[in-house]
Amino acid sequence: MTGLSAQEIKTGPSAEFIMAVVSQRNYKTAEEIVEIEKGVDTTVDMHVTAMKMVKPGMQELDIVVEIEKIARATGGDISFPTIATISGQTLHNHYHGNIIEAGQLFLLDCGAETSMAYAGDLSSTFPVGQTFTDLQKDIYNLVLKSHYACVDALKPGVTFKEVHRAACLTITEGLKSMGLMKGDAESAVEAGAHALFFPCGTGHMMGLDIHDMENLGEEFVGYGGEPKSTQFGLKSLRLGRVMEPDFVVTIEPGIYFIPELTDQWRSQKKFMEYLNYDEIDKFRDFGGIRNEEDYLITPDGKRLLGSKRKPMLIEEVEALRK
Ligand code: GLY
Ligand code: MN
Repeated sequence: MTGLSAQEIKTGPSAEFIMAVVSQRNYKTAEEIVEIEKGVDTTVDMHVTAMKMVKPGMQELDIVVEIEKIARATGGDISFPTIATISGQTLHNHYHGNIIEAGQLFLLDCGAETSMAYAGDLSSTFPVGQTFTDLQKDIYNLVLKSHYACVDALKPGVTFKEVHRAACLTITEGLKSMGLMKGDAESAVEAGAHALFFPCGTGHMMGLDIHDMENLGEEFVGYGGEPKSTQFGLKSLRLGRVMEPDFVVTIEPGIYFIPELTDQWRSQKKFMEYLNYDEIDKFRDFGGIRNEEDYLITPDGKRLLGSKRKPMLIEEVEALRK
């Protein structure tokens, strides 16, 4: 007995207590990994189903209904509110009322939760038509390049902040070569100019919650008690701490063309030395692209979770759209 009311307990956990819970739950046991992999496999099934079924004229909701059935049919549930949208540039967009049109990109970010409540969390972006356009391919391949730069960097001893930086630098260098950014890539990332296209984080801890234990505070779960950056972009990185074996993390860098943010920064003449606003303006209607996978940190590196692989390469995705 603590002698405290439920309300007092809710408002007053000590930092030591939170850290103790976090240090127990951040390290996943073999039994937990088995469960998480079941969630990931069901999530792959949800993605493959969506990739096959999307057609012009459908409503986004039609996809949501079909794929959420797959999660519930396992005796579990969805692990978070599904994002299934032709407006992928709007982050955490849960509106499903748009009619899907040919030529658009469809961004799906969804997950299954097992009956034991362990989560999967994957994202895909695929064309509504049979193939990506050349421009969509260019941005998609740059997102993939940044994704695999993160995967390459992921291992024990490396901070997730460094993994995130690998994504930011790859995106900046790629956008420079396409004429959308300019100047020194390292300085642009240091200043936060790339956050116009990537205003969120590369990933988060995953387990019983998709953003595992986020209610306990990201500074404890993702930063080991250290403060988070307040810089636009970096402040949305949920995870920055040193990677250790048995952590489960997501990798999900993306590129988003957000007209409202572009207009705001342009009117403020923000980062004129790094951003070619006239070129960026040509992408106003492009949308957003993200892929996401779930990884276990192992003693010598990382392992992609799940026995099924979500199609990621352009040829693999297009093969499902035929
Ligand atoms: N997949 C949803 C999220 O990471 O916020
Ligand atoms: Mn995620």
